Amino acid sequence: MEQQQTIENLAASEPIALALDRTLARALAENCATDQRLAFARSFTYATARTFCAALAPAATFPELPRGVQLIPLAAQAKRATDDLGASIARAPRTEAIYMLGCIYTSTLPAEFRARHGIFYTPPEAVRHTLDMAERAGTDFKRARCLDPSAGGGAFLVELLNRLRGALAGTDPAFILSQIAARVRGYDLDPFGAWLAQLAVHSALNDLEAAAGRVLPSIVKLRDSLDIDAEDVAAFDLVCSNVPFGKVSLPPERRALYARSTYGHANLYGLFIDAGVRYAKARGVVAYITPTSMLSGLYFRALRAFLAKSAPPHEVTFITERAGVFEDALQETMLATFRRGRRNRTGKVRFTAIDGEGASTIAGSFALPDDPHAPWLLPRTADQADLAARLRQMPHRLANYGYSVSTGPLVWNRFKPQLRESRLANALPIIWAEAVTSDGRFVWRAERRNHAPWFLPILPRDNWLIVDHACVLLQRTTAKEQDRRLIAAELPESFVAKHGGVIVENHLNMIRDVSGDASVSPAVVAAVLNSRAVDAAFRCISGSVAVSAFELEELPLPCPAAMRKIHELISRGAKPKQIEQVLAKAYSVL
Ligand SMILES: C[S@@+](CC[C@H](N)C(=O)[O-])C[C@H]1O[C@@H](n2cnc3c(N)ncnc32)[C@H](O)[C@@H]1O
Repeated sequence: MEQQQTIENLAASEPIALALDRTLARALAENCATDQRLAFARSFTYATARTFCAALAPAATFPELPRGVQLIPLAAQAKRATDDLGASIARAPRTEAIYMLGCIYTSTLPAEFRARHGIFYTPPEAVRHTLDMAERAGTDFKRARCLDPSAGGGAFLVELLNRLRGALAGTDPAFILSQIAARVRGYDLDPFGAWLAQLAVHSALNDLEAAAGRVLPSIVKLRDSLDIDAEDVAAFDLVCSNVPFGKVSLPPERRALYARSTYGHANLYGLFIDAGVRYAKARGVVAYITPTSMLSGLYFRALRAFLAKSAPPHEVTFITERAGVFEDALQETMLATFRRGRRNRTGKVRFTAIDGEGASTIAGSFALPDDPHAPWLLPRTADQADLAARLRQMPHRLANYGYSVSTGPLVWNRFKPQLRESRLANALPIIWAEAVTSDGRFVWRAERRNHAPWFLPILPRDNWLIVDHACVLLQRTTAKEQDRRLIAAELPESFVAKHGGVIVENHLNMIRDVSGDASVSPAVVAAVLNSRAVDAAFRCISGSVAVSAFELEELPLPCPAAMRKIHELISRGAKPKQIEQVLAKAYSVL
């Protein structure tokens, strides 16, 4: 499974003492024997939850643990810590308290278990933004049937209940409880996460349960949400969650079921989006927190086409800060609403910082592309709205100029015995990512750990690894915080000719003239890709740290006349600034 995103941190309002206690909880967990870690996480959270519920007035209903969840006795120090934590959590506002309780569980869980099931609970502010979006997409909490299909911890359920109570304010408590029992469901695969969600529900309703003189029946079920019961198909007005993600391999029946929305590697969150559409009624809303890679990734092309046809996006909100709430995030995160049967192919883009201020700003609208599989071009910062609109009108791609993109073929650790520190007869130079400098020059070097400069091919077996023509090299991994996402350099023909071929390592993309008769030179392609304007354009496409071949091939490029102009400028030895000006004009960012 790919690296997980931590979708939680110490909430801005969390008292420092609690943060310290949580660190203590994590330290206590780490002291446990490996085979006891899961049981410790659950026992520690369970004991904290007990103190928390007892400290509420009136005390909250404490649901029974599902059978099969094993608890272990806690040592005196751990027991004291749970008492302190439970009592301090009970003093926090209820939704925050539930989130904190969830964080105790997630931060004590063994990392492997957590990553395998995608157990990352959501800060209340992100939940509120997502449900605001659901309301704007048409959800009416006066009557909506609502489902969280990955409800562990209960963050979404609790906010759903707040909104449902708000919509039914002034009615009889027993009526509100019966409405909740009839209209709200949460499913989760993790029995303890599901139990925590049910406990969160009771703690959010303890005043209502006391006033009605009865306890809400269980609304959270232990279930694999990707297997959909017949009675749940098209049964919900709102399906909302922060869904799990990560690459998964699918057994044949599941692959067949989700064939309409998968292409190549399946990702849990793509499957959850498809499942959400199955759960939703004809005009129902799916409101999810997901990674952004689906906006442009090759493996999400079928999902994009499926959504464009069945449930087009209504709104997308980008989280503008990566540090902080989305601590350790390697992937960008977005909040998105989709509506089944929507005809309109345009949606709104917003930005929010999830910083305790609660504000989100509108950054214009977006339209789905004519080619349903193509990336969705959306501004990623407020000032990119015009650029994103302009990009949708630019038809030229690398293929129009005779180029295609592939990744450097050498995966070095599969060829360790053939790496060489010094030159031998028949050895060829290896081009590592550091050969492309941040200012766009090619400098042959192998300076990082494990990077040998030479490769000894075994022929003819290794012929496929040898690059024997000039091309443009471009780094494959860059983060949005970097000054440039596109870092390219021309691999000169003279260098290739001198060595009789080169070996390009896998952290580089190769942009090659596949026609043998490209209308623009590699120098022009490198200059274009290295410009500010094209970098900004790429940022409207890319949804992850990878600079993929697919996304590069989908990048809108200037028209042939502008490319000719750049060619002339390069031939005359013009300054990069002059090239920037031509490109800024081509992308209308002047
Ligand atoms: C990112 S967490 C989100 C939890 C909660 N919705 C929130 O926002 O705080 C994802 C949840 O999905 C659950 N999960 C993973 N695979 C699942 C599946 N196939 N069916 C149901 N739940 C699943 C995990 O146990 C975890 O609780």
